[in-house]
Amino acid sequence: MAKMALVGKQNGVVRPALSAMLHWRRHARPPRIPDGRVGVPLVWLRSERLPLIGPALRVKNISTNPVRLVRNFARTRGDMFTIRTSNTPDFTFLLHDDAFRMVLNLPPEHAEIGPVLAGIPTVGYWFPRAGTDSDSLQRLILTGRRMMATMMPASRVAELADLVPQVVDRHVAGLPGTARLDLTKWVYPVVYEASCRYFVGDRIWADLGAELTSLYRDIVRGIEITHIALSLTAFRFGLREYRATRRLYRLLRTELPKYRDEDSPLLRAIHEVRVDGEPLSAVDALWMFMYVLWNATVYPGAYTFWTLIDVVTRPELVTRLRACDEAGRLDLLARCLLENIRLYPVASLIRFLRKPLEFEHEGRTFHVPADQMVGVLPGVSNIDPRRVPGDPDEFDPDRHLGEPVFREGIFGRGAFACPAAEFNKKLTSMVIDEVLTRFDVDLVADPPPRRLRVPEIYPNGPTPARLTRLAKVGDTASGAARCPFA
Ligand code: HEM
Repeated sequence: MAKMALVGKQNGVVRPALSAMLHWRRHARPPRIPDGRVGVPLVWLRSERLPLIGPALRVKNISTNPVRLVRNFARTRGDMFTIRTSNTPDFTFLLHDDAFRMVLNLPPEHAEIGPVLAGIPTVGYWFPRAGTDSDSLQRLILTGRRMMATMMPASRVAELADLVPQVVDRHVAGLPGTARLDLTKWVYPVVYEASCRYFVGDRIWADLGAELTSLYRDIVRGIEITHIALSLTAFRFGLREYRATRRLYRLLRTELPKYRDEDSPLLRAIHEVRVDGEPLSAVDALWMFMYVLWNATVYPGAYTFWTLIDVVTRPELVTRLRACDEAGRLDLLARCLLENIRLYPVASLIRFLRKPLEFEHEGRTFHVPADQMVGVLPGVSNIDPRRVPGDPDEFDPDRHLGEPVFREGIFGRGAFACPAAEFNKKLTSMVIDEVLTRFDVDLVADPPPRRLRVPEIYPNGPTPARLTRLAKVGDTASGAARCPFA
């Protein structure tokens, strides 16, 4: 009897330990590579190698600071490595010289973005669309990208010169001669309005802009890995971004039918767009509207905020701007944006491999199996001295005089490259110029630390600032006395 109890006890401990060990061995086993090919090494931090707690530590490292984890491997493990978690496909990162172009130039049916964005809330799930698979999502993304590109020709982007001053006027109207405000809260609505108004047009924005700003602020703030992990559980009902997505869907479904194509460049573009010769279904048309504004808010908000901080924390740059004419200021500010994105870029550019990827490197043929994610890391490449001359860590907008340095690390490349590079340069430089020609901006405390998340770079706290009016500028007359320094 006593012996049986002992055996039972041993089984109770030994069996789970054995099965955990087996699970770990399977988890740590490298993928099969065909003969004559070389695989990319699986990498782990030392603590992540521990059986039982290792996989949990990996999940924790990825969810709390994925950018640091990946940068760490890039520094210590070289130009190629594969990261594994328990419940996602493997991620292979390639950082050698020609990897950037090779990965981003792969055709979209080989290296897809659909399965990548399918993992992002709102765009990938929550906001309804006709299909539920990643192929239909990729078709919508490619259609949307093409459609957005047609909405941003140079002639239309030039309209920002009238739009942005009007928007800034509205947001500074009523501010006293010296105002204290929190830039973390103040900048985003200004950028969202300028960027979204350009696409949706004045009528829709006048009616729905305030609500859209608040909903997108909640949605954008939720795009980070811990929230994404929670979004897959019942905790999603408590997430602001989940509730905002549901409200956004209901708002668009009830309100948009009240507008005509003439009211909105975006409605017109959505009605005209065709996928395989067919117009979008009603639900996909709503999704497309949401997706355009998602793009128009996520990065423009964050990068305009941080470019403003980069400028106002460098008095020599402000002095230099004030000595320029308007064209010179806009040019310099656009280069500040490029430098800001170069140093704090979109963390990783990832594709899902529908078939294996094989490439030659240093005389060997490497093989990355199908059904994995493959990616490049602008956060590493953009500060690589092999690509960026001079001191790559230094903030130097003039390195983009002429050609931007390592352009693909800033706005991407290939089938999914950003169609909005010129739009962004104009938008950000004009918003900041409008602020700096009206006000002296003094931060009253150190700027908040940059919280590097995927994909936003969040200000980790408020940014209190004092805005002192520089000249008597009519708050409603657009363009009046635009440059007191010229
Ligand atoms: C400063 C602001 C922005 C930055 C830094 C930025 C950066 C990028 C980058 C690096 C990519 C490539 C992604 C990849 O290869 O996986 C991309 C793609 C894209 N961007 Fe932008 N972008 C910005 C603003 C915008 C705006 C304003 C729009 C349109 C309203 C836009 C629309 C797109 C689209 C449609 C794609 C391709 C599909 C996708 O990745 O979603 N972007 N952007």
